[in-house]
Amino acid sequence: MGPAKLILDGNEYELPVVVGSEGEVGIDITKLRAVTGAITLDPGYGNTGSCQSAITFINGEEGILQYRGYPIEELAARGRFVEICYLLIYGDMPSPQELDEFRHQLTYHSLIHEDMKKFFEGFPPKAHPMAVLLSMISSLSSYYPESDNGEGEDLNIIRLLAKAKTIAAFSYKKSIGQPYIYPRNDLSYPGDFLHMMFAVPAEEYVVPEVLEQTLNLLLILHADHEQNCSTSTVRMVGSSQANLFASISAGIGALWGPLHGGANQKVIQMLQMIQDDGADYRKYVKMAKDKNSDFRLMGFGHRVYKNFDPRAKILKAQSDKVLSQIGVTDPLLDIARDLEQVALEDDYFIDRKLYPNVDFYSGILYRAMGIPTNMFTVMFALGRLPGWIAQWKEMRENPQGRIYRPRQIYTGETQRSF
Ligand code: SDX
Repeated sequence: MGPAKLILDGNEYELPVVVGSEGEVGIDITKLRAVTGAITLDPGYGNTGSCQSAITFINGEEGILQYRGYPIEELAARGRFVEICYLLIYGDMPSPQELDEFRHQLTYHSLIHEDMKKFFEGFPPKAHPMAVLLSMISSLSSYYPESDNGEGEDLNIIRLLAKAKTIAAFSYKKSIGQPYIYPRNDLSYPGDFLHMMFAVPAEEYVVPEVLEQTLNLLLILHADHEQNCSTSTVRMVGSSQANLFASISAGIGALWGPLHGGANQKVIQMLQMIQDDGADYRKYVKMAKDKNSDFRLMGFGHRVYKNFDPRAKILKAQSDKVLSQIGVTDPLLDIARDLEQVALEDDYFIDRKLYPNVDFYSGILYRAMGIPTNMFTVMFALGRLPGWIAQWKEMRENPQGRIYRPRQIYTGETQRSF
């Protein structure tokens, strides 16, 4: 594809064009300021590519999501989270030997240093688990300092993946005043997490198969999503050559926001509020459309998906089956379905191409599994960990990599004397 032409202030410039492996077209403005003196302006970066990446492909118009070329529908149906971690981070599916070694490493490194337990004691009982996770992940850098030449980076990737689920489960146990349950080497990644969450010392707890499978699915669906807010944060922080743990804890902070990963907690709270208000969901759809009300339909809308979020489709399809297998019914699921039905028939949502996103149904499943609402975004973070790591690694291995440092258009006071 030929260059783009720009006419600015009577001058004509040519800008090279980059075409991706799926035909996406990007106007390369690397030299724009040097050549024209002008910069671009794109608040929220809705039209700006920060990088070229080979990890995840999304086609928002067609509702397509692929990890390293594999469709999310196939990975969700037959994948195991640990092999998807390997795929995202190292680029290809592992051989049986590579998978065994990777699993062994993740199992072997799942304990946290006993001294780290003291950090939990410093948090108030009602501390939000995202505050705990963010602090504990960044504190890993004090136990496993990154060497200047990046040596041991692979081991820190293993440590982070292995210890994050232990930290998450320990933070839950601390919040309910129960003793910590230590990782077990004989359980799968999702199974071990559920065991650490729900086992108690007094009795044997066998992780129900349906819970292990459901968590495996949820972790896979959340594993990566190209340059979303938290992943861009991880890349931004990592671009200064800050260590892996500091970069990931910055991503956890970004994910916490209710417009991003914090939405899954807000969806359940919204559905509960609607149920408490006589399940009058039409009233809330009306409020979501009213510019004067700051109420938004949480779990709806997406910057990239202007069609169904394929992850929401998969979770919606699974909800009925999982709830009946677990043996629970949840009136909030009926309200979610009614809400979706009404919204998708309403011009306001149709015109703005607002569909349910991954957060709309995920909370229903976490709830059915007995995971408390304030842990939902922690669950999102556990799923997104391999994606953040893969994107951080790709950014750090880019030989042309530069520190992320956007420009601005200044609109303040011009010079004046003090
Ligand atoms: C995630 O980026 C990713 O990939 C994120 C994620 C991932 O895997 O990493 O997919 C995970 O974060 C999913 C999104 C979770 N957030 C929510 O569910 C919160 C509710 N959704 C919105 O706040 C919003 O849709 C965003 C934040 C998701 C997207 O925001 P945008 O792209 O900046 O869109 P916008 O706010 O400019 O909205 C465009 C229009 C506006 O109306 P108008 O000004 O044009 O009249 O749509 C309206 C908005 O008011 N709108 C909504 C709405 N979302 C957008 N109106 C009511 N309810 C909503 N949920």
